[in-house]
Amino acid sequence: MSTVNKGFASDNWSGVCPEIMTALVEANVGHLFAYGEGDEQVSQTAVRKFEEHFGKDIAVFFVYNGTAANVLGINQFMNSYHAVVTASTAHLNEDECGAPEKFIGTKILKIHTDNGKINYSQVEPFLKSIGFQHHSQPKVISISQVTEMGTVYTTEEVKTLADFAHRNNMYLHMDGARISNAVVALNTDFKSITADAGVDVLSFGGTKNGLMFGEAVVFFNKKMAFEFEYARKQGMQLHSKMRYIASQFTRYLTDDLWKNNATSANSMAKKLAYQIAKIPQLKISQSVNANGVFVLMPSNLIPQLQEQYFFHVWNETPQIDGNINMKEVRLMCSWDTTEEDIDGFTNLIRDELSK
Ligand SMILES: Cc1ncc(COP(=O)(O)O)c(C=O)c1O
Repeated sequence: MSTVNKGFASDNWSGVCPEIMTALVEANVGHLFAYGEGDEQVSQTAVRKFEEHFGKDIAVFFVYNGTAANVLGINQFMNSYHAVVTASTAHLNEDECGAPEKFIGTKILKIHTDNGKINYSQVEPFLKSIGFQHHSQPKVISISQVTEMGTVYTTEEVKTLADFAHRNNMYLHMDGARISNAVVALNTDFKSITADAGVDVLSFGGTKNGLMFGEAVVFFNKKMAFEFEYARKQGMQLHSKMRYIASQFTRYLTDDLWKNNATSANSMAKKLAYQIAKIPQLKISQSVNANGVFVLMPSNLIPQLQEQYFFHVWNETPQIDGNINMKEVRLMCSWDTTEEDIDGFTNLIRDELSK
C-alpha cells in the first residue's frame, strides 16, 4: 500500500483510531435491521450516548459526512428565499462546492473575518433586509467550532450569538466538525457549548478525531427535527448499514475516547507552536486554540518541507516581510501526531533554513 508522508496536512489524513476499528469489527456480527429501523439496538445505544452528553431533549440523525450534516441541518430552518449568515472562511462557504446553494437554494451572506470568528455586530447590518421583499431573508447564523482558522469561540461568545439570533427570529447552527477539540480547548463539556449556550442544531463530527466516517445532525429541541427523517432520505444521506456509523459514535462517546484523542491532538499543536515560535524566520499567524497552527513561512522553504512533511498552503497570496516573500500555511495535528513528528519537522525547518 502506498501512503503519503505523515505530515500536517489535515486531521482527516490520519487513519482510524484502534478503538473505533475494534468497535466496527464488534458491530460486524450477524444480521440486523437496516437503516437503524425496528428495534435495532446499535443505533439506539448510540443515540442514548448522545443523550448522556447533550441531555434528553435532542433528536440525533446520522449522516455520511460533514457537508451533508451542515446542509441538511441548516435546511431544516430554511426556505430557498432565506439566507444563512456565516464567516467568509466557513467550510459551508468555501469548501462545500455550492452544496448549500444547490440543495437549500439559499444565499450565503458572508462576513469577512481574519480569525474565522464572527460576532453579532457583524450580523446586525444584514437585519435591514428582514421584511424587505427584494432581499433574501437572513434565517440562520452558522458558526464553526473549532473555526477553519483554528480558533475557538468561548461559551459566552456562542451564547451571545444564539441570543442575538433568537431575538431576531433566527437560528444558530454550529459546524462541529472539530467540536471535541473545542470542548477540550475550553475545558468544558459538549452540552455547555451547544444546548446550554442556545445552539439550535449541531453538525457533530468525529472523522477529524479518529472515526472512519459518519457525522450526526443533533437538534436541541425534538420539535425542530419535525420530518427531518424524510429530508435526510431525500438528501441521500440515510445509511443502510446504520450500525457502522452508530457503533463508531457509541465507542467515541464512551470512556472519554473523544476527549483523549482531542487532548492529544491539541497538546501536539501547542508543542508544535512552541517549537515554531523559537524559529525567528517563522511567524505564528493565528491564536493556537485547538489542533491547528497557522504559520507565515518563507515561500521558498515550503516545497522542501512538503517533500517530507506534507501540509497545505492556506493563503497563496504572498506577504512581504522585510524583503522576504512569506506565505501562510496550515499545520494540523491529529489524534496520532507524535512528539517525534514535531521534532522531525522542526529540525528539518532548522536544517533547511541554515543552508
Ligand atoms: C470546518 C469543517 N466543517 C465540515 C467539514 C466536513 O467536511 P466533509 O463533508 O468532507 O465531511 C470539514 C472537513 O474538512 C471542516 O473542516
